[in-house]
Amino acid sequence: MAEPGKRRPYRKWTPKKKTASKAAKRGRTGWDPVAAWYDQLVGKHGSDYHRHVVLPAAMEMLGSLEERKVLDLCAGQGVLVPLLLDKGAKEVVGVDASPRLIDAARRRFENDGRVSMVVADACGDGAWADGSFDRAANLMAVHDVPDLPAMCRNLCKALKPRGRFVAIFMHPCFRIPRQTHWGWDEGRKLQYRRIDRYGVDLEIPITTHPGKGGDAQTMFYHRPLGEVLSAFGSAGLAITETRELMSHRRSQAGGSRSRGEHRAAREFPMFLAIGGEKLG
Ligand SMILES: C[S@@+](CC[C@H](N)C(=O)[O-])C[C@H]1O[C@@H](n2cnc3c(N)ncnc32)[C@H](O)[C@@H]1O
Repeated sequence: MAEPGKRRPYRKWTPKKKTASKAAKRGRTGWDPVAAWYDQLVGKHGSDYHRHVVLPAAMEMLGSLEERKVLDLCAGQGVLVPLLLDKGAKEVVGVDASPRLIDAARRRFENDGRVSMVVADACGDGAWADGSFDRAANLMAVHDVPDLPAMCRNLCKALKPRGRFVAIFMHPCFRIPRQTHWGWDEGRKLQYRRIDRYGVDLEIPITTHPGKGGDAQTMFYHRPLGEVLSAFGSAGLAITETRELMSHRRSQAGGSRSRGEHRAAREFPMFLAIGGEKLG
């Protein structure tokens, strides 16, 4: 077992600064190569999952934003920003490593003096992590950053004491690309969730638009649940609220399987949402 606060090495990859994975060396990872695709997928109002599940939960968990300064860490093309402003945020700073996604966000908010968008590595040192934020959000990015403890430390540094944060990400127990699947048990007439691997760190390349000619990839960093939660706790972020969010989608199949499929969709979470505050 890794000592608390220390990362275990990923399978197929060692997270040392000098040894980037082969895909990263070829410049095929990260979100810049897939920025146009992602911007189109998410659009102005969010993907289907954003609109029905992720954004409503994030806004509820962030609480009152009236006159608050809010950080959107790993903001992408800024899908959360309009909701933060609508709820009264006085200033929003979005930080993301992808210059193209930040450009897309800047174009969207260029006439709004309350919004600034910064290109920066969430895991590296940055002037943005300055202890001035009342609230911070980190949506769908816990599994996208290579160094989660470092990102959590920066998230903590960015907040004022007792500042609130929310992070929402794919549920590490049930949603691991290529390693979790639905299955059907004919005898028991139930849909089960099959978990092929779980308790180790995994680096899983994701091809974002397969079959469309390109090989643009991002990397998904799976970590077991305890490791994810410990990264927040070790950084000085107390988790006071946890929600396991189900998909809003339901099977349209009908027939004998639909009951089992509906039950599985209601009971196996898709996302994990954690919220809390900076200690001290
Ligand atoms: C799935 S997208 C989510 C974006 C946005 N929060 C949303 O919900 O649409 C993951 C984002 O994390 C960003 N990201 C990945 N690694 C990062 C890092 N080390 N520093 C800053 N941003 C990073 C990517 O550029 C990408 O925009």
